[in-house]
Formats: sequence, C-alpha cells, structure tokens
Amino acid sequence: MLQSYNDFTTWNAAYITINFYFVVHNLKIHFKMSREDVDHNFNKKFTFTYNKEWLLPLEAYKCKPQQVESLQSMKAALNACKGQLNQFALAEWSKHTKFTDPSSSIVRTITKSFKIELLTQAWCKFYECLHAYPIVPNTEEFGSLHLCEAPGAFISALNYFLSVNYPKVKWNWRASTLNPYNDSNSLDEMIYDDRLIRHTLKNWEFGLDCTGDLRKFYNHEKLVEICKGVMLVTADGSIDCMKDPGEQEHHVHFLHYCEVMTALKVLGEHGNFVLKLFTMFEHETLCVMYLLNCAFKEVHVFKPCASKSGNSEVYVICLDYKSFDAKLWDTLIAPYFNGRQGETVMFPLELIPSDFVRQVEECAKFFMDLQCERINRNIKLFRTKNEDILHQIRTLKEKVAANYVQKFKITNRLSRRRRLIKSHRRS
Ligand SMILES: C[S@@+](CC[C@H](N)C(=O)[O-])C[C@H]1O[C@@H](n2cnc3c(N)ncnc32)[C@H](O)[C@@H]1O
Repeated sequence: MLQSYNDFTTWNAAYITINFYFVVHNLKIHFKMSREDVDHNFNKKFTFTYNKEWLLPLEAYKCKPQQVESLQSMKAALNACKGQLNQFALAEWSKHTKFTDPSSSIVRTITKSFKIELLTQAWCKFYECLHAYPIVPNTEEFGSLHLCEAPGAFISALNYFLSVNYPKVKWNWRASTLNPYNDSNSLDEMIYDDRLIRHTLKNWEFGLDCTGDLRKFYNHEKLVEICKGVMLVTADGSIDCMKDPGEQEHHVHFLHYCEVMTALKVLGEHGNFVLKLFTMFEHETLCVMYLLNCAFKEVHVFKPCASKSGNSEVYVICLDYKSFDAKLWDTLIAPYFNGRQGETVMFPLELIPSDFVRQVEECAKFFMDLQCERINRNIKLFRTKNEDILHQIRTLKEKVAANYVQKFKITNRLSRRRRLIKSHRRS
C-alpha cells in the first residue's frame, strides 16, 4: 500500500510494470500496475480536427430528425452492455463501483492534507479540465458564468486554480442554477445544497421567475442582459434519467441546447466554453457538436479521471469563440423561445459534412469502449472476496490519488482573502 507521496515518487521513478492475473467467475482479470496504467486514467481525450470547408447552414429547425446508423449501432451496443446491470441491486452495485473506481480515493486523499472549499468529485473534475486545457482566458481581468452550477464546486475549483496560478488576475463570476430556496422547484431535479450559495448570494442569478430554470427563455434573457461579454462559460447541467437510462441523451438534450444557446449568446470573442455531455449517438447531439465545431477554433472532448469511468459523462472543451453568421440566430433560438424541442432538429443530416460525422463516430466509439470495458470489469469483480484483487484495487486508487495531487500541484492553502466562504463555521 502506498503510504505517502514519497512512496509515489519512488514508485514513479522505478517505472516498473507488474502484471497480476486473477481468475474471478472463471474469467481472467489482468491488473497492469504500471505507470501507463495510472496515466491512462488522466488521458481520456479526443480532439476534433477542423476542416475549413465546414459551413453552418443559414437556417435551423426546419427538418425532421434522422438516425445515423453507425451511431445507433453504438447506442444499442452500449445499452446492451449497461443492460447487464439490471441483475444487480442498485445500492449494492453503486457501493461496489464506488469501491472499484480508480478515482474514488482522490477526494479523501486531498481532504486529509488540504483544506479546500467545497471539495467534491465535481471540484476534482473541473480542476482537471483547468489543467488539461487553456480554459482560463489570457487576460488581466475576466468574467465567467457558471450554468446549472449548484452546489458550486466548479466555481470553487476555478477560484483555487486562479489563486495558485494567476494570483494577479481579476475575476468576476456569476452563476445560475435551479433555486434551492424556491418551493416550486422539485427536490428530485435540484441539488439542495447551499453551502456556497448562501455565502455568495449576490453572484447568483435565478432569473425573472426566481426558479433559476434555464429552460425558460425569459431566464435566459435575464442572464444575457447581465453577463454579456464574459470570457468563460461552464455548463454542468444534468437531470435524473434513472427511469429511462437508455434514452439519457434524448432526455437531457433540451437542457443542453439551452446551455449552449446561453453560452453562445453571452460569450465574448475568443471566449471559452465547457459543456458536460453524455453520449453522442443522436442526430440532435451531432448538430450541437457541429455548431460548436464551427463556432469555436478548437473543440476537445475530455473524460476527467475524477469522472466515474462506468458512466457516459464527458466534458466538451470549446476554445476561442469565433461566433457565426447572426442570420442563423433567429431560427436557432426558436425552440428556446417556444419552450420546447418540438419535432424538428437543428440541421438536416445532408448539410453536415461526412468527414465531421466520421470524427463524431470515432469520438463516440472511443468513449463507449472505455465505458464498456469498465462496466464489464466491474461485473467480473462483483462480490469478489479475493484479498489479492482487493489489495490491487486499493493500491491503484492510492496511486491515482497521489498522482492527482502531484500532477495538479495541490499544495497551497487558500489565503483568507481568496476564500469564497468567509466563515467556515456552518459549512
Ligand atoms: C451535476 S450538478 C452541477 C454541479 C456543479 N457544477 C458543481 O460543481 O458543484 C447539475 C446541476 O444542474 C442543475 N439543473 C438541472 N436542471 C436545471 C435547469 N432546468 N435549470 C437550471 N439548473 C438545472 C441541478 O439543480 C444541479 O444543480
């Protein structure tokens, strides 16, 4: 077992690969305890290659959705893989995957040595995004907007990142989310955690109706009014799809669309956008990805190590906003204005270049393979009592956590002046 960061360094220097094979339920499991095996968890990345010939159509939402056969086959394969989980009791399965996930010791390891505000798994995910890509604008002062943000760990991660790396940069932030103080919001939809919100209320905007519901066009307009010109937008929205997990992508699409429209409307030129997505199998997501690829200079898809490897969550990192022809905006915004997705899709398939579709296929397959591999491994490991295997799982988690702390230089304490939560008594 790794005892300290010094052990990590020793192990790091040795670059040993130790291969362990175990037989569980008659299936051989291979544990490769090498430097690469740890690094692999930090390198789940895909980058789109821009083609100058990609052009946005001049109008949107005039055609019916279609299916891309190759993407639908992947969706069926992923759902079949996830379908194997129906045999397990949910609580027991969640406990098991929490134990086996390589990232599950990161928060505990950081907490032991550092006092960080609102340190959660989400904090770790966004902190990793900040290290992996140049998301922070290269200016002396900038504003950011954080959509669907309760309880606010992305803000806390950005605050910590800026205080360590850019202590002189002046930063103004605003955030919006389903209002935890509004009784009309369903407890199933929102995160009732106001540890940050209650200390920073003036930075939160809950819209014209005070719900904070981003799906309402008037709430979007209010955000545009007060946040126009920000240089960074994050959007981490998700909704519970437990009742129909096979159609997660479709169920969250309207919220994602509202996040994208808001980001594109408020971002200043050269601004950056980080959007949480799940899978990319549907025509509607293909269109959103095409829009982002045409509107930004660079688009990357990243699954942080701290994101549970058995789920479909990924972050789309869009850098350097170029904007697009304003004529498109009137029809692009129509579903938002009407408050519903309707029967149409953003762009017809015929107007999305085939070399772009191929890149989406490649990206979708890359992340689907990683997810299925993890699910299958978790199934094999379920209820194992083999002490050697349990030891290997714990060792990998310790190494991943130690690597996280070292790689991302989590060393500093936040000065009192930089704290978002001025008093720690109640948080
Ligand atoms: C995964 S959490 C965000 C976590 C956050 N980034 C953090 O780091 O603490 C997703 C958030 O989306 C919010 N949300 C879901 N539907 C929303 C909607 N229609 N409008 C605004 N926020 C929404 C939820 O209330 C929840 O706070």
